[in-house]
Amino acid sequence: MKNVAVLLSGRGSNFLALSDAVNAGKIPARIALVVSNRPEAPGLQHAVERGYKAICIPSRGIEREAYDRLVVKELQAENIDFICLAGFMRLLSGWFISQYPHRILNIHPALLPAFPGMHAQEQALEWGAKVTGCTVHFVDEQLDHGPIIVQYPVPVLDEDTEETLSARILVHEHEIYPEALRIVCEGRYTIEGRRLIVKPEPLPAELGLG
Ligand code: GRF
Repeated sequence: MKNVAVLLSGRGSNFLALSDAVNAGKIPARIALVVSNRPEAPGLQHAVERGYKAICIPSRGIEREAYDRLVVKELQAENIDFICLAGFMRLLSGWFISQYPHRILNIHPALLPAFPGMHAQEQALEWGAKVTGCTVHFVDEQLDHGPIIVQYPVPVLDEDTEETLSARILVHEHEIYPEALRIVCEGRYTIEGRRLIVKPEPLPAELGLG
């Protein structure tokens, strides 16, 4: 059983999807801590309503690494194994990332390395891409850059707006984030350079074949 922290800044729909999957017994993990850098984040409210340990560490006006040290102190107090960034609108310092190598996950609403950074769905539309999607990856020192755990493609339709495209991608974000967290919590992967190799799932014990 792994201890997971979710860091968020806003709506929190990916946090809810992770929470649902954990509650359904699909991931060998416990969400031990939810951290928001914004007191008004709806995701923080959802976390309180679901009974999680949920704290706000306001980030406004605090220097990046000084802020990260406050967050890491809370993570260490809960013995956190994996950190899920779920719409956390702050860049992490190199120091933070070095504390948790290959232990911080992020979800990005595009097929990386296409359209990193902000407004990925709008970037895909403006580029005229026919396919975009979503990516869960480990966080490294570069933005939207570390080894990819799971991706899912989504077609761009001629009539799409940023809103309709974002909504269709979001459905799949809610599927692949729990899937990726399950893979890492089960330790069912190896990393070779940039490539994350997912090992096959064990056969169900009830078949008597495992
Ligand atoms: C998602 O689109 C995610 O891919 C991006 O930020 C958004 C967060 O949405 N990183 P939510 O707060 O999880 O609903």
